[in-house]
Amino acid sequence: MYRSHTCGELRSENIGSTVTIAGWVQTIRDKGNLIWVDIRDRYGITQVVGQDTSSEESLKALKSLGREFVVQITGTVSARSAANPNIETGEIELLVEKVVVLNASLTPPFTIEDNTDGGEELRAQYRYLDLRRGPVQDKLRLRNKVNLETRKYLDSQDFLDVETPVLIKSTPEGARDFVVPSRMNEGQFYALPQSPQTFKQLLMVSGFDKYFQIVKCFRDEDLRADRQPEFTQIDCEMAFVEQDDILNMFEGMIQHLFREVRGVELDAKFPRMEYSEAMERYGSDKPDIRFGMEFVDLNPVAKGKGFSIFDDAEQVIAINAEQCAAYTRKQLDKLTDWVRRPQIGAKGLVYMRCNEDGTFKSSVDKFYSQEDLAAWAKTANAKPGDLILVLSGTTEGTRKQMNELRLHMGDELGLRNPNVFKPLWVVDFPLLEWDEESGRYNAMHHPFTSPKPEDLHLIDTEPGKVRANAYDLAMNGVELGGGSIRIHDRDLQSRMFDLLGFTKEEAEAQFGFLMSAFEYGAPPHGGLAFGLDRLVATMGGSESIRDYIAFPKNNSGRDVMIDAPSPLSSDQLTELGIALK
Ligand code: AMO
Repeated sequence: MYRSHTCGELRSENIGSTVTIAGWVQTIRDKGNLIWVDIRDRYGITQVVGQDTSSEESLKALKSLGREFVVQITGTVSARSAANPNIETGEIELLVEKVVVLNASLTPPFTIEDNTDGGEELRAQYRYLDLRRGPVQDKLRLRNKVNLETRKYLDSQDFLDVETPVLIKSTPEGARDFVVPSRMNEGQFYALPQSPQTFKQLLMVSGFDKYFQIVKCFRDEDLRADRQPEFTQIDCEMAFVEQDDILNMFEGMIQHLFREVRGVELDAKFPRMEYSEAMERYGSDKPDIRFGMEFVDLNPVAKGKGFSIFDDAEQVIAINAEQCAAYTRKQLDKLTDWVRRPQIGAKGLVYMRCNEDGTFKSSVDKFYSQEDLAAWAKTANAKPGDLILVLSGTTEGTRKQMNELRLHMGDELGLRNPNVFKPLWVVDFPLLEWDEESGRYNAMHHPFTSPKPEDLHLIDTEPGKVRANAYDLAMNGVELGGGSIRIHDRDLQSRMFDLLGFTKEEAEAQFGFLMSAFEYGAPPHGGLAFGLDRLVATMGGSESIRDYIAFPKNNSGRDVMIDAPSPLSSDQLTELGIALK
């Protein structure tokens, strides 16, 4: 046995017993005849002491240790003269008897401490060392717990975990595919699944009724804090269900997860909001409803006063930053620069201070009288001391920019408390979205999403107005998951492919198997998928999913530790029948 106890286990009850622990050397404090060494493992830290009563050999051995050496130490548990309340083993220490070095270590390139001195790149390169750090381990522990509780909940609801293949052909989730060449079928390629979408629908046709899988998905898209090229979904599908059945089932799952994993009781009933309303009030299909600062339509009071920027704009939108009238000129200039950054793309920012004395001061005083500005304040429900921020332009563009500004102000004003969790179902998404580049409609969710029956009559005349039986779960400004009720009728599915610009042949070649399956008794079905990485990061109070993935990729899609992607040898290429340009 390498150890009788872990480094997190010993308490005052163990005082007097002889034990053996094993782990990594965290810190060494050497005061000559007195030496303390902290030994760390996954479970905690135990302090080992060498003193004048220790054998010379063990003292010498302790002194020879370096940071991150792997050691096995036998000693007697004794009470500390001054307990350390900050760690669980803080009441005891181990009087050293025997030290065995199981493996030496080079000096690590950064300190393996909660607060490390290592930069992001360096830590990514030595991720196995970064993963030794407590806060990083805590994140993976959280992930493990979410994973486990997800399985428990879905099992209790009769879901079956079924694995689906990874070498498949293109799935239509709207991103680019990662492809894998086939040696046995030269010139042909598999695609890695962007999701198991078609397979889970086929499982419904097969009668599995309730399916789930915690599954890797692959999408070749531009990366952000909440996007990785390979990520994990909690992927689910149910047969004989309507939208409400699905929302209720998964509301239950999210409540269960927060209760069991975080001890947080979420809303008994998650609020629901139509997509169009979410766009109008927040300019986002995943609004952060932890705080107000909702959009105010300023068109009626801001247009027609000779200020051409507003007059020419399709939409003028304001938000009210309460009690921010004291913002200095410098702060406002900084905000203006912020919205002008290329990522946001606003041309400028108009502001209006609501002074405590009931007067108004705006950046466009030349065009607006005090009465005009009073009308702005009234429209925005602003009180003395408030600050109105205004953007204008196209409806779509201004909403996007104002969404960013609202979230930025929410951050600045500390309104986005990471320990507050506000779920929101966003429902009734449009079925289609217009794609300027290709000059045709794309499926907003995916081509298997069913239109709302009451909107079906618009499908040929005003396809852009057709709403879908599609829903997302947003929380704290993050899209945690999304899904839809599917089409289960071959003709409607085929019409959908037409609408999306597939020729009959293309649709047949790509999705013929699914349409054939629909001719053999496909039950009504629907489902959704949560992004596990996003769910766990949100539960951990973070916007970045990378920390919650053991071996993540960087922003260029690289794993800098294993140095992937990397070139293939010419032999490999030849075998695959591939010539590089
Ligand atoms: P969708 O494409 O909305 O739906 O994906 C579901 C959820 O997966 C997460 N997600 C991601 N997480 C990290 N990195 C990414 N690159 C990434 N892309 C998506 C999000 C998202 O809400 N097959 C459908 C589901 C269905 O209709 O049942 C699908 O994949 O949290």
